[in-house]
Order: sequence, then C-alpha cells, then structure tokens
Amino acid sequence: MITLGIESSCDETSAALVKNGKEILSLVTASSAEIHAAYGGVFPELACRRHIDAIIPVIDEACKKGGVQPKEIDLIAVARGPGLVGALLIGMQVAKGLSIAWEKPLIGVNHVEAHLYAAMMGSQENPQFPALGLVLSGGHTLLIRIDGIGHYSILGSTVDDAIGEAFDKVAVLLNLPYPGGPHIELLAKEGRKENFSFKAGLVKRNPLDFSFSGIKTSVLYAVKDRTLTLQEKKDVAASFQETVFLDVIRKAKLAFNQFNPKAICLGGGVCNNLRLRDLFSSHFPSAQLFWPPKDLSLDNAAMIAGLGFQKFTQHSRSDPLDMEVAARIPLR
Ligand code: KG4
Ligand code: ZN
Repeated sequence: MITLGIESSCDETSAALVKNGKEILSLVTASSAEIHAAYGGVFPELACRRHIDAIIPVIDEACKKGGVQPKEIDLIAVARGPGLVGALLIGMQVAKGLSIAWEKPLIGVNHVEAHLYAAMMGSQENPQFPALGLVLSGGHTLLIRIDGIGHYSILGSTVDDAIGEAFDKVAVLLNLPYPGGPHIELLAKEGRKENFSFKAGLVKRNPLDFSFSGIKTSVLYAVKDRTLTLQEKKDVAASFQETVFLDVIRKAKLAFNQFNPKAICLGGGVCNNLRLRDLFSSHFPSAQLFWPPKDLSLDNAAMIAGLGFQKFTQHSRSDPLDMEVAARIPLR
C-alpha cells in the first residue's frame, strides 16, 4: 500500500511516498528557513507564501523520484496540526483536492505523533510497549508513556519555551543564523562547558515538566554588553547544550523508573544532535533506543505518510473532506 504524505505545519513544505508505513520511496522537502533567518524565528505569513509556491512542485517531484503514478497511490495522509494554522491549511486544501481528483481516501494525522512514529521507521519491528517517548522539537518538549501506536499518556511537557526554541533563542544571542540548533551543536564541540555555569528550570508542580526560559535569560545576562571571543561563544554553547540535555536525561530517568519501559523512542529536530544521542546511549546503556533515521528528525512528510498508513489500517476509515486543521490538538 502506497501512501502520499503531505507536511506543511511550519516552514518545511514536504511530500513523500511511503510503502506499507516504513519503506520510503521518495521524500522531497523545500524549506523556507533562509527567509526566516533575518527574524530569528519563523515568520508565519512568509512561510505560508512559500508553501503555496512549493507544494505542487514538491508533490510532483516526490511522485517522479518514487517512480509512482497517481493511480498507484492508495492513501493520502496530511498533517492536520498542531502548527501554524495558515501553513497547515495549504497542505490540507491540496490534500483534499487531490483526494477528490484522484479518488483516494484521505487521513489527517497529528504532527507530534508523527515525530514519535518517525523513531519507529528505522526498523521493520516496532518497539515493544510500554515505551517511553520523547518529542524534542522546535515546537514541543514532551515525555510520553506509549502503550501502543495511538495510545499515549503525557507525563511531562514544557511550561514555557520548547527545547528547540531555546536553542534558537540562545543562537540569536550568540549571533548565529536561524535555525540555531545545528550551529550551537557545532560550536559546542570545541567548547569548555565548565567555563560557564547555567541551570535548567525546575517545575515544582510536576518534576517531569520542563522550563527553559530561565536558562535563556541566564545566557542573555552572561553575554549582554560584551563582545565574546569565538572561544567564549563555544564555551557558552557547550555549557548551555550540556545543561539542557542533562535536564532531559534526568527527567527521562525519572519517567523510566516510573514504569520500566521496554524501549525509548525519540523524535523531533533536536534528535539530529549527536551529543544528545551519545548522552542517551551512555545514560541508558541497556535500554533499546529508537531514533529517527536520517532526514526524519526534522519536519518531513515521510513520517506523516507512515503514521497515516498505521492509522488507516488500524481503523480502516478515511477522514471526511470537511476535516479541519488545528493549531493545537491533543496527542491521542
Ligand atoms: O522537529 P522540527 O523540524 O520542527 C518542529 O516541529 O518544531 O525541529 C526544529 C528544531 C529547531 O528549533 C532547531 O534549532 C532544532 O530542531 N535542531 C537542533 C539541531 N538540529 C535541529 N537542535 C539542536 N541540535 C541540532 N543539531
Ligand atoms: Zn515538527
């Protein structure tokens, strides 16, 4: 069964063809990140305009690269939220149009759930459940108990900035381009983390919740009214990154000890960071870790197609054509 996935929730316009939920026949992504660079974050109106220009060519290229004709597509899956409403609408309208024109069933999927599913796309076998899930992206920071695909309980989330957002904001303070995460990772490699001391936030109400706005302010005070040398920038990057990641590890351990999961699934753009991967491997030496394969950490349509296939086969139903997008939708 071949699924066409469409993703447009933020600044990536992406289309993919995926066979039986895991085999990626093609994945084509156009990013508008470079136009947001001047603003230090995504400028929604500009992202929408780029989606309009890019979406049809991206779908067309995905079909060509995958060697698949429209008549061979069995299902269309689209991200229906959470995300920027204007941006989501463009993917949704195109998905509905193609569903009518090509007479294919349509399914709307949760973008955050798709980030978790991306972690499962690297191996034929799904993880054993219950599993501990972490979504570490520009928009979300979540600790989740996964009892099966579609069965989730949120254990912790951020009370302010998302983890990727914190990387992006600290990058602005260090005069690095948007998105800042990869640049901070690069600088941190040669940084001496002991030269700056930062702390991640504690949330009294729930020890599994995250708070990153305090550390961002601490970085601001450490760098403001000063011209940092390159080495000092590297030191700030290393200390910030390590502090944030050790906070994630500490909370992941707390959650792990609550229900002894059989696996850990990690998804979202921050999972591209190799230091994060090393830390998880060393702190959870005997846990089975599921990371997204190459190109599936950042926003992409392959995870949308894969999850769409799973949902469609689980419930064997198509979503109605009056389905709506939503800026926020709960994970379930
Ligand atoms: O999952 P994603 O593409 O978008 C959302 O759904 O939010 O994640 C984008 C986020 C950005 O904040 C970006 O700075 C961060 O992921 N990111 C990284 C790295 N690569 C991307 N953060 C830390 N280290 C990286 N190597
Ligand atoms: Zn995302």
